[in-house]
Amino acid sequence: MARGPLTAAFLASYPQDGYVLARGLFDGREVGALRRAAKEDKALDDHSFGRADGEGGVVRLSLWNHPGDGIYGMFARCRSVVDTCELLLEDEVYHYHSKMIMKEARVGGAWAWHQDYGYWYQNGVLAPDLVSVFIAVDPATRENGCLQVLQGSHRCGRVDHVLTGDQAGADPERVAEIAKRLPLVHVEMEPGDALFFHPNLLHRSDQNRSESPRWSLICCYNAKRNDPYKESHHPRYTPLAKVEDSAILAAAEKRFAEAGNVGWLDPGRDASARGLDKERG
Ligand code: SIN
Ligand code: MN
Repeated sequence: MARGPLTAAFLASYPQDGYVLARGLFDGREVGALRRAAKEDKALDDHSFGRADGEGGVVRLSLWNHPGDGIYGMFARCRSVVDTCELLLEDEVYHYHSKMIMKEARVGGAWAWHQDYGYWYQNGVLAPDLVSVFIAVDPATRENGCLQVLQGSHRCGRVDHVLTGDQAGADPERVAEIAKRLPLVHVEMEPGDALFFHPNLLHRSDQNRSESPRWSLICCYNAKRNDPYKESHHPRYTPLAKVEDSAILAAAEKRFAEAGNVGWLDPGRDASARGLDKERG
């Protein structure tokens, strides 16, 4: 278990491996609140979109640029995540975007081998001074398409990306050669585990043919010094207001209180219960 913010000692293997897995960074109540909020969130669903995975399936995700004040924002702004990213990038960081990957049971699509910086390079981001934080919302297993990484592949530098289906994938010839030399790791995760990974780390995941969904929240950060030189669909430097980790449960409670604000009838005012239906007009 690794409650954050994580220490430099905990992160010691990151430069070599290109990732570090913090098991139990969030506890059952925190991630349970996230799961419940996400799965009941009509706006998240309404804003979701699919991308063909090049293997006959479709990946579904929702993506947003600013963390906001809701429960997703509390995860993206909390010290366990943000202070850790600042330690990794040795700078102030800002929120580059977050996304919910909704890899559904039976139909969830695959992700081709890619590096996140393979995409972001196009956005005027000059250096790979970013970090992604993959937070397991559901259990992620081999069966339901957990993340796979080529350990240490970030040290190969940026690989060219080409379109596969609707996804940009890393040059397959180069990936095949890298895969001969570096270990392939299936990152199986429990809800609340968080994987911090380098933007040049090669990663992919299989389609989900199991009966279990595999949703994940991925929050991405850029170093302030790495402010993109041009506008793109993701933000340039925008100060990030950090919150204590306790803000997660506070936001969850507020949300559930708000969710109760639907005009509940208290029993004393429920005329029908007293056989006075006609009084209700
Ligand atoms: C991603 O790299 O954006 C998603 C990968 C996954 O969820 O498997
Ligand atoms: Mn990615």
